[in-house]
Amino acid sequence: MKITLVIFAVIVVAAVCGTVGWRLLANRPSQATIPLTAKPQGKVAIVYYSQSQVQNTATLARWIQKHAGGDLIALELVTPYPEPYPATLKAVERDLNEGRLPKLKTIPRLEGYDVVFLGSPIWYGSYAPPLETFLRANALAGKTVAPFCTHGGSGEGRFVADLRKACPQARMLERLSLRGSNQIERRLKRGLSLRHTEDDVVNWLNRLFAGPQND
Ligand SMILES: Cc1cc2nc3c(=O)[nH]c(=O)nc-3n(C[C@H](O)[C@H](O)[C@H](O)COP(=O)(O)O)c2cc1C
Repeated sequence: MKITLVIFAVIVVAAVCGTVGWRLLANRPSQATIPLTAKPQGKVAIVYYSQSQVQNTATLARWIQKHAGGDLIALELVTPYPEPYPATLKAVERDLNEGRLPKLKTIPRLEGYDVVFLGSPIWYGSYAPPLETFLRANALAGKTVAPFCTHGGSGEGRFVADLRKACPQARMLERLSLRGSNQIERRLKRGLSLRHTEDDVVNWLNRLFAGPQND
């Protein structure tokens, strides 16, 4: 009886602490606290695809734009993937197996841009097919490319290796890979700022663009 009571008390305390901690984390400010010391030179575009309700990759793209400047360009599909999540998984898997690429409403034209931040969620261990559609039309030859991605816990997988293959003539910088949300977190509408803040972006930009630019 005593042991049952102790176990019950431990469960209650753990549940309360977990809920409070989760709420504190979810509500903490995501603004940067460290100074930006380096920025890209030239004309900057931030091209990205983001799919889920919590829009992790879009959030990261906006953080990048806030600190690096440039034009924010979202890739949009003619026919959006079906929702909810299991249906998206199935549709993407089928497309990948059958070698089918989604059509984009418009293919952004990037002549005149020098630096392209290129972002995607990680899907089945690599970048999402909408990015592939974009890259088939524009392999970013001669551009400086800064890749970024969000994932649900598996890490970036083949993201950078596949991008290098898709844009062999681009100058590929170090990537930023952040954990976005897993399935449960997405359901609870918990996104990127659960674990990350703009400091992650500022640190990355400071590393990428420090020193004589584009050496
Ligand atoms: C079709 C599909 C495949 C996914 N594959 C992976 C994966 O291989 N590894 C992983 O960690 N997360 C995977 N995820 C989760 C997303 O990468 C993660 O939730 C991401 O932050 C979502 O970004 P978004 O909000 O910009 O769409 C997958 C999600 C979908 C819809």
